[in-house]
Amino acid sequence: MSILLNPGPVILSRRVRQSLLKPDLCHREQEFIELQNKIRNNLLDVYKLSAKKWAAVVFTGSGTSAMESMITSLVPTHGKLLIIENGVYGERFTKIAKIHSINHIILHHEWGEEINLINLNNELQYHKEISHIAVVHHETTTGRLNNIGKIADICKQHANISILLDAVSSFGAEEIKFDQWNITACASTANKCLHGVPGTSFVLTNRNATSQMDATLARTLYLDLLVYLDAQDNNKTPFTQSIQTFYALDEALEEIIEFGGWKNRQEKYQNLMNIVRTELEKLKIKPCLEENESSCVLNSFYLPEGISYEKLHDELKEAGFVIYAGQGGLKKSFFRISCMGDISETDIKRFITAIKKIVSVK
Ligand SMILES: Cc1ncc(COP(=O)(O)O)c(C=O)c1O
Repeated sequence: MSILLNPGPVILSRRVRQSLLKPDLCHREQEFIELQNKIRNNLLDVYKLSAKKWAAVVFTGSGTSAMESMITSLVPTHGKLLIIENGVYGERFTKIAKIHSINHIILHHEWGEEINLINLNNELQYHKEISHIAVVHHETTTGRLNNIGKIADICKQHANISILLDAVSSFGAEEIKFDQWNITACASTANKCLHGVPGTSFVLTNRNATSQMDATLARTLYLDLLVYLDAQDNNKTPFTQSIQTFYALDEALEEIIEFGGWKNRQEKYQNLMNIVRTELEKLKIKPCLEENESSCVLNSFYLPEGISYEKLHDELKEAGFVIYAGQGGLKKSFFRISCMGDISETDIKRFITAIKKIVSVK
């Protein structure tokens, strides 16, 4: 089996894989409701959020479904969304807003660029009607960890604009200050930093935000957060859920709690990433971003001179490692390495040995 150094789906631990073999369940039976409730509570527990103020809504779908559910359900028809783009996933918010005719404007940056806070402040100053900001925490396109703390400070100066956060590739491994940053909702998925399997996603939403929404003005049937929230608060589920992936998320949550929570996972990823950065630097493979701009989850690197992405990928795959290309036009110039999943220091050291061989015989 290859070691997956792509940013999800991740290598599963044995116990998460085993959990997929638990008994079949009907989603209308009490056993499923107990499973759903436990997952909802444990998701809040990852960041120690109060169940009075916050709710976890869990549904079947990939990370994009959580993004789509969040912005279609929480930006009211009279509201206006400012979307911050500096990579593929910020741009995905824009695609969603266009499809659903959500009133929005865009603050665009090139992929990987730091978010320009002066421009953000100016936009909010000029467009007083903006009610929400959609922003990606960890832009997996490049590995940039956007500075949500600074964005939140600016939002607070402008009538407390609500922040809708894509934390798909940061939830469970990076700091998210829900209350201090005034987060209204956050979208994420089971199969990245939480180490579950693909197929379950979730939105953590501030209960105030949902209580202000008009349930009769839904933009979507399947991804209506308010419908899910109401059903799940009442021990139900509106649609058939993917039971086995729920089992896996439940086990993955148990695992991260036993591991000591998100801080320990952050430390683990950071240690692995430090080895990757240090050893690749020795091979003259440079990171695209400084360490203090990068997540602990994924970093991007310039391709070694004279080696195409295809050659690097194929030879590493032969050696048992799957790396990830740059997206779009970036494929020609860089590659990405993620440390998520059940990966050990030994795996990373074997990866370094493998890449050393390829670079030295190019
Ligand atoms: C930051 C971010 N947002 C959204 C997504 C989309 O998730 P999915 O591919 O599970 O729909 C990804 C996927 O990598 C991501 O990294």
